[in-house]
Amino acid sequence: MGPSRRSLLLSPPLSLLLRSLVLLSLSSRGQAVQAENVTVFEGGKAQISCRLQNYDGSIVVIQNPRRQTLFFNGTRALKDDRFQMVLFTQRLVQITLTNVSVSDEGGYFCQLYTDDTHHQVATLTVIVPPEVPAIEAKTQAVEGGEVELTCLSPRSKPPATLRWIRDRREIPGVVSQQDNGKTVSVSNTIRIPVERRDNGAAISCEASHPALEGQKKVRHYRLDVHFAPTVKINPPQGILREGDSLTLTCSVSGNPLPRNIQWSRVNDTLPERAETSGNTLLMSRLSQSHNGTYLCQAHNNYGRAADHYTLLVYDPGAVVETHSAVPYAVVGGVLALLVFTIICVLIVTIWCSVRQKGSYLTHEASGLDEHGDVQEAFLNGNDTSQGKKEYLL
Ligand SMILES: *[C@@H]1O[C@H](CO)[C@@H](O)[C@H](O)[C@H]1NC(C)=O
Ligand SMILES: *[C@@H]1O[C@H](CO)[C@@H](O)[C@H](O)[C@H]1NC(C)=O
Ligand SMILES: *[C@@H]1O[C@H](CO)[C@@H](O)[C@H](O)[C@H]1NC(C)=O
Ligand SMILES: *[C@@H]1O[C@H](CO)[C@@H](O)[C@H](O)[C@H]1NC(C)=O
Ligand SMILES: *[C@@H]1O[C@H](CO)[C@@H](O)[C@H](O)[C@H]1NC(C)=O
Repeated sequence: MGPSRRSLLLSPPLSLLLRSLVLLSLSSRGQAVQAENVTVFEGGKAQISCRLQNYDGSIVVIQNPRRQTLFFNGTRALKDDRFQMVLFTQRLVQITLTNVSVSDEGGYFCQLYTDDTHHQVATLTVIVPPEVPAIEAKTQAVEGGEVELTCLSPRSKPPATLRWIRDRREIPGVVSQQDNGKTVSVSNTIRIPVERRDNGAAISCEASHPALEGQKKVRHYRLDVHFAPTVKINPPQGILREGDSLTLTCSVSGNPLPRNIQWSRVNDTLPERAETSGNTLLMSRLSQSHNGTYLCQAHNNYGRAADHYTLLVYDPGAVVETHSAVPYAVVGGVLALLVFTIICVLIVTIWCSVRQKGSYLTHEASGLDEHGDVQEAFLNGNDTSQGKKEYLL
């Protein structure tokens, strides 16, 4: 909107009229005008009211903060269609301003033309609530390092309050404000250490503002932590024999996820019939020439990783059986035998100890008899054994 459009449109005859009105107003005392302050959101609609007391038909002038006349007694003076006169009664003059911008802010003058010195000012205050803030990462987050995150609310009035939240707790940051004329740009910068486990962690920045009435404008963010890859080959179950087919799968992690996975055989080339597709290596109709140590390797900008699998292809048939299934049976049999032996030994030991105790007791009891024997034998004469024999018989 150019300055020409906003210029005051007072035609010469009107100026003449004004002069006569000034004279007229001198005779009209007791009139008064009152203005009310207005607060409105940017882009909204403001209603500016001038209350009249004892209005006697004088000219009412409404001016903008730059003291350009908007309405001259109900007649539009400034070419700005956003202003509309909606009411002009003996008590109230009302104009509206649509699509309010911060540059419309300031004092609007309501005055009776007769009384230039006693104008009333309606102060228009424009509020700019913040938008959802933006989050910027200054540097790429790498495991073991720190990440600097800035939350930015570029425009608000009055300034918004920015808070970093992680796991419902506030992370204190460095807040700075920059005046951009009528509005303020606010930022809050944090530095946090990051590990591999923080990749994908949720963090958010909340903007609060009086105009939001307790609501918050929240920007969610997921930490993107770069880390070196890890690889792991999932080994096949059981043994492999000639003619079997084998699919090796390599589990790869890393951020960024390694794009290429290299399969190789240590000190050798991959078998001719091996097919690689991404993280899988397929070998059909295995033969012993496939024996070897296979490597899965992956890398990204942050490092490289490898895992290996040693493949042994066995002859089909009994030889394989004795090497695989039978040892388990043998081990199981040996174990069972061992347990059986231990139980037997235990039983025998217990039985023997019980028996030994019993025999000791009988022996002790018979000891007395023997003693008696000896005494009797001694009394009976020289042939003790005979005496004993006799006694026992
Ligand atoms: C209107 O706003 C102005 C400027 O902020 C202030 O000085 C004045 O007291 C306010 N008037 C009323 C009636 O609130
Ligand atoms: C100003 O406008 C009001 C309302 O339309 C009218 O009553 C009054 O006569 C006007 N005054 C002049 C001087 O034209
Ligand atoms: C409101 O004003 C802004 C500039 O202040 C302008 O860009 C926008 O188009 C306007 N909207 C309407 C609906 O007039
Ligand atoms: C590869 O060759 C080197 C040197 O000849 C040897 O030391 C190494 O053990 C071999 N590795 C395998 C897995 O065969
Ligand atoms: C492959 O491995 C099996 C099992 O250890 C072995 O019996 C066979 O001799 C090996 N073959 C070759 C060609 O190395």
